[in-house]
Amino acid sequence: MEKSNENLPEHDRPISTMSGHWLLAKLGKRVLRPGGKELTLKLLEAGDFAHQDVVELAPGLGLTAAEILRCRPKSYRGIDSDPNAASKVNERLNLPGAVLVADATATGLPDNSTDVVFGEAMLTMQGEKAKTKIIQEAFRILRPGGRYIIHELGLTPDDLSPSTKQDIQRALAKAIKVNARPLTDAEWRDKLSDTGFAVRDNTLFAPMRLLQPRRIIADEGLRGAGRFVFNVLRFPAERRRVIEMRRTFIQHQDSLVAVGMIAVKPQ
Ligand SMILES: C[S@@+](CC[C@H](N)C(=O)[O-])C[C@H]1O[C@@H](n2cnc3c(N)ncnc32)[C@H](O)[C@@H]1O
Repeated sequence: MEKSNENLPEHDRPISTMSGHWLLAKLGKRVLRPGGKELTLKLLEAGDFAHQDVVELAPGLGLTAAEILRCRPKSYRGIDSDPNAASKVNERLNLPGAVLVADATATGLPDNSTDVVFGEAMLTMQGEKAKTKIIQEAFRILRPGGRYIIHELGLTPDDLSPSTKQDIQRALAKAIKVNARPLTDAEWRDKLSDTGFAVRDNTLFAPMRLLQPRRIIADEGLRGAGRFVFNVLRFPAERRRVIEMRRTFIQHQDSLVAVGMIAVKPQ
């Protein structure tokens, strides 16, 4: 494993209990969100980041942070609860202090202080109360007219039965060791509008293909994909976890989808 992985979040946890996203990161995967880089880029284009004050919730390893900076925002600030993730991103961006260690439910940022809040693959892993608190926090720090943009794991169709939802939740928790609670398109919209956001009509959808070869190459590039596969082949305990995650994603792929939404704080 590369030396740069030594300070990754959860690097000292047993492989059997490591959160799926940090396990994948340890093996060299850098894009850790359900719709991949392609959906991220579509949201960055639709969200209009140029000359805006931008806050990213949970930048993780900082790939999106680098893309945001390419959009020439007026300012960039990240909030991640994991100190290792925060320092990795600050190092990667060469912007000491850009990413603060804080919980997204209480960023410590002033009211009405930003134009865009962007968050990927982070609300899904929160319980219902924490989801609401984070959405309220995004609302609080946004200026009127500001956008809260999310890229999360969704369930489809909207009328999926409660028992299937529960089965999927259980299977995900078992495979990725994170209590992921994806919502349907309608449920995500309701969550955002209950807090006062006006959600734009056109949800962007992408298939959930995090561990499919074509997506891995699209997200990581040929070299990155090669490094990831090489590491998966080298380490049996990690390989077993990746195979279980992949099997779970494939088993439920008809019901899982990545969603991208733009919610606007009314003027
Ligand atoms: C699945 S990773 C996604 C990382 C990155 N957004 C991406 O899409 O590649 C989840 C990230 O959310 C962060 N996170 C989870 N819960 C959080 C919370 N309550 N507040 C702030 N960050 C949180 C984790 O530390 C991690 O960096």
